[in-house]
Amino acid sequence: MVLEISATATFGRLKMWPISSFKKKTLAALLAISLAVSVLLFLALQSYMNWQKNAEDSIYAMSWEGFGPERGLYNFTVVTAMLDIGRGNWSEQSRPYNTYLLYMQRMLRLDVNMVVFVEPKGKPFIEWMRRGREKRTHIAVTTIKDLPYYRYKDRMAEIMNSPEYKKDNELVAKKLCESFVPEYDILQLSKLYLINRTITENPFQTKFFIWLDGGYGHGEDIYPKNRLWFPKNLFEFADRATFLERTPGVKNLEEKQKILHKLSVNAMPGGFFAGGSKILSALYALQVQLVEEWMSSGIVDDDQTAYMLLYYKNPTMFRLVPADWFDVFKLFNSETS
Ligand SMILES: *[C@@H]1O[C@H](CO)[C@@H](O)[C@H](O)[C@H]1NC(C)=O
Ligand SMILES: *[C@@H]1O[C@H](CO)[C@@H](O)[C@H](O)[C@H]1NC(C)=O
Ligand SMILES: *[C@@H]1O[C@H](CO)[C@@H](O)[C@H](O)[C@H]1NC(C)=O
Repeated sequence: MVLEISATATFGRLKMWPISSFKKKTLAALLAISLAVSVLLFLALQSYMNWQKNAEDSIYAMSWEGFGPERGLYNFTVVTAMLDIGRGNWSEQSRPYNTYLLYMQRMLRLDVNMVVFVEPKGKPFIEWMRRGREKRTHIAVTTIKDLPYYRYKDRMAEIMNSPEYKKDNELVAKKLCESFVPEYDILQLSKLYLINRTITENPFQTKFFIWLDGGYGHGEDIYPKNRLWFPKNLFEFADRATFLERTPGVKNLEEKQKILHKLSVNAMPGGFFAGGSKILSALYALQVQLVEEWMSSGIVDDDQTAYMLLYYKNPTMFRLVPADWFDVFKLFNSETS
């Protein structure tokens, strides 16, 4: 519509010029072609910029010389994962596995005890980035099929395709992956499982555990410049699970809890959480029950909704700290350099 109008308008002006052989159709076609060319150029520019970011990140990773002498604090364990759910193959919101690994390098430079659950193909990269901290790195080769919630894959797909689930569902309307990719929800919901596994195996014999998403920071360097982490305002609260809380606040959504799995809200991000062994294991046991209930009542969603529902049932197990997505090192690090 817009194109036709502008074609006519331009043609109107052109008519006063002595180029009378120009036909309306030709002009419209030319305009359509130039529009298509600009769209293509825009897409090319965008993909060039993505490519450039990837290239810069690759060089940054290749130039990593490894860790020097130990200077950090090692009485807590950071747990993370980088598993492939085929996102590079998606038609929308697509991001290849390598891009994610390159995002992850900034977190891997943290001088802390770290447990990494990773795809076989990602292991060499983790080893490269953790050179010099072999004794403070535990790599657990894992694929999505090893996760206990993977057994719900078909049931999740069935729920996602059901009319009851699709009805009045903001996530479906916005085509968000949590509403149509079972593997995405399986992976997100499995963070507590991976934490429970780490607590059980406890390779570094610590009492305090911190989950950080492999892509935490989304390629931005939100980590301490000196790569050291001396947590503050965390260890004192080991008997509760510390989570970040975004606006409008978790409490403000409580009356919507019945339809929370159909709403696009991000009040309780899952990119970071922390606590002592007891509380995090207890939380996992409750989540296992919750996900079972979801499967039998036709509900599916990612971990954020699960944490919120667990909070409404057991508020004393949680400690919510007002923040935005990537505020962890602003809030919980005693060194600001
Ligand atoms: C770790 O060590 C620091 C410094 O000794 C101490 O303040 C902190 O409480 C310890 N944290 C845990 C979880 O043991
Ligand atoms: C992506 O697609 C390719 C080619 O179709 C396939 O070989 C590969 O297994 C897929 N990756 C994942 C993780 O599903
Ligand atoms: C968490 O790990 C412990 C120790 O291995 C295990 O006994 C427990 O069943 C796990 N929790 C759940 C909910 O599976």
